Formats: sequence, structure tokens, C-alpha cells
Amino acid sequence: MRKRTLSAGVRKRLLQSAQKVMKNAHAPYSKFRVGAAILTTGGEIFSGCNVENASYGMTNCAERTAIFSAVAQLGPGIEIHAVAVTNDQGVPCAPCGACRQVIYEFGPDAIVFFQGAKGPRQAHIKELLPEGFRLQ
Ligand code: THU
Repeated sequence: MRKRTLSAGVRKRLLQSAQKVMKNAHAPYSKFRVGAAILTTGGEIFSGCNVENASYGMTNCAERTAIFSAVAQLGPGIEIHAVAVTNDQGVPCAPCGACRQVIYEFGPDAIVFFQGAKGPRQAHIKELLPEGFRLQ
């Protein structure tokens, strides 16, 4: 696991992007608004919010919205350097299992910033998703 770092300024910009997009969440069922932003290795930031549905299982998490938006804009060659996740309730919120697998697809060496049980945390995606699945 390589040690990835981010300058304080870039980390702040990433978190601010996640905070800003959170306001666009469509979360009438859970009332839990989430914002996520990804930084590509090319230095670009893409953001996304959670988008819920009356058929609950169709809900898309903020992290996946951000990643899919980046792929839609830049194509499947993107590599994720970092991910930031925020929520409007200031409670612990680590990426769900499905999002961890999607982060891993495009960022097997990504660093993830989120609110942990004991405050702000940063973790390597491989800590969050040991033995992530990949087709070789
Ligand atoms: N949610 C996210 O968007 N990201 C997470 O990391 C955790 C959960 C959303 C999904 C759903 O809209 C709401 O939060 C409650 O689960």
C-alpha cells in the first residue's frame, strides 16, 4: 500500500466541493444528505450527491454519483487519487460497501476522507476494502 498524501489546500478544496454539492441531494426518504467529491490523478475534481428513489433500492450514493460523473466527462481511463465524503448531520459516514468497490475499480490506491466514529478520518481504500474484486 503506497502512502498517498494531499496538500492541505487541495484537501480543503475537495471537502468544500463535497459540502457544496450536498445541497443538491435528493433525499426525501432518509432526509440524510450526502456530498462526495473525487480528485483524479490528473488533478480534476468531480462531485456528486445522493439521489434517492421511491423504490428505495434504486438509490445512488453520493460517491458513485461523483465517480460516474467523472467517467461520463473524461471516460473510463480516470484514476481516483482521493475521495471526500460529507453529510449534513455531522455524523459518522464512511462509504458503503458498494461504493468502496466502485472506488476500488477506479482508484485501487485512493485515499478516502470521511467522518469516522471518533471524528474526521482518512483511510486507504484497501483498508476499507481488503481483497477488493478486480477482473484481470
Ligand atoms: N449514502 C451516501 O450517499 N453515501 C454514503 O456513504 C452512505 C449513505 C446515502 C444513501 C441514502 O440516500 C442515504 O445516504 C441514507 O442511507
